[in-house]
Amino acid sequence: MRITIIGHGYVGLVTACVFADFGNEITVIGHTKEKIDRLKQGDPIIYEPGLKELLEKNLKAKRLNFVLDYSSVKTSEIVFIAVGTPPKNNGEADLSTVFTVAKKIGQNLSNKKNHFTVVSCKSTVPVGTNKIIEKILKENAPQDAEFSVASCPEFLREGTAIYDTLNPDRVVIGSESNKANEILLKLHQPINTKKVVTDLTSAELIKYVSNAMLATKISFANLISFYAEKVGADVEAVLDAVGLDQRIGRIFMNPGIGYGGSCLPKDVMALIDVGKKLGIDTGFLEEIEKINLLTRKNFLKKVVNNTNGKNLAIWGLAFKPYTDDIRFAPSIFIIENLLKKGYKIDVYDPAAMENIKKIFDKKLTYHNNLYQCIIGKEALLILTEWNEFKQVDLNKVRKLLKKPVIFDGRNIYNPQLMKNFGFNYYSIGRPVV
Ligand code: UGA
Repeated sequence: MRITIIGHGYVGLVTACVFADFGNEITVIGHTKEKIDRLKQGDPIIYEPGLKELLEKNLKAKRLNFVLDYSSVKTSEIVFIAVGTPPKNNGEADLSTVFTVAKKIGQNLSNKKNHFTVVSCKSTVPVGTNKIIEKILKENAPQDAEFSVASCPEFLREGTAIYDTLNPDRVVIGSESNKANEILLKLHQPINTKKVVTDLTSAELIKYVSNAMLATKISFANLISFYAEKVGADVEAVLDAVGLDQRIGRIFMNPGIGYGGSCLPKDVMALIDVGKKLGIDTGFLEEIEKINLLTRKNFLKKVVNNTNGKNLAIWGLAFKPYTDDIRFAPSIFIIENLLKKGYKIDVYDPAAMENIKKIFDKKLTYHNNLYQCIIGKEALLILTEWNEFKQVDLNKVRKLLKKPVIFDGRNIYNPQLMKNFGFNYYSIGRPVV
């Protein structure tokens, strides 16, 4: 199939590489020449495990093309919109790029007889957006152009984006057109999973509800960690036992310093914004956000109340492991607040250093080695659960630190083990040892 994808971020580029790998002919449209040139050379720009290899393989096979102009829209069966929808200050999703792109797609749609184009939005957009996209397409398309809009939301996670695209729990296709549904079903045929075909608006809502439910599970786990800390229980033991009830489950209920990234925070905010506009009481969703912030504040309080000196080390800056992404990362909030309180901070992250430098520049000291980062420091803070932190030489860590104090925002160590190694170990929702 011939497919055009607008946007080459996590969703756009991963979708492009995976569908090219299935044998389709993909054109990716960007708007920065420098980035398009890098992509053509096999540089994915973003860090995502396996992406570079898949990009290089499909460039070599000439199934992937990166361009700046929209002419490929004319010959494509499917056009995916995969551009960013960042939150505005009021939580509303900023759809300006989606609408600009929709206009350009409309202007480039084919009006050749028997050519049908599906225009499908992969960007996460508030309920009702696809109808607006349809209107923009109609206003700009040549007469007689045959097309239909469809929603085909993405459920991939950063860090496991390729695996998730190949092995999703479900594929959701929503459109008012049977022809569009059939074309999208054909495209997803090699993916062996349940296909949910529904109407346009339901498909849009499914995406927001999925992310809001995930955020709910995390905030619920964090709320329980507040209880556990007050009563001296172990939140992990509590959630392990609770999660054995199959109606509840344990997955995605890890307490910590809260959810970050470009999706969960933005989508909860956008769902609140849409709900308010619809006159729905959004108190429940607002509480999820409130707990997400509270869990960071509690962590910060723990650090401030239990350190004397002002020199700290931080391991882990990315919003989660296996990504260099720091958008809405809890680390940013924690670092900003510690700097305000006069702390000096040394940092290490296996992937996100360059991105964090863009925000904090000379305000932090950067290390390429996790042990060097902690030499002579008052305490070590762990903010991302990278695997390489899990089996470090704890004797060495204790000797290098000025004081044997660790604040673990992701519960990666066993408290009893830490006690045996001689640490003062503060984690989330577990008794201090
Ligand atoms: C999320 C969803 O998981 C994907 O299904 C969805 O496709 C994607 O958003 C999107 O809308 O594009 P992602 O943001 O990549 O994916 O990351 P997650 O794995 O969901 O993690 C989000 C945040 O929650 C991270 O900061 C992580 O540390 C935190 N988290 C996750 C917890 O604090 N506890 C958990 O139990 C799980």
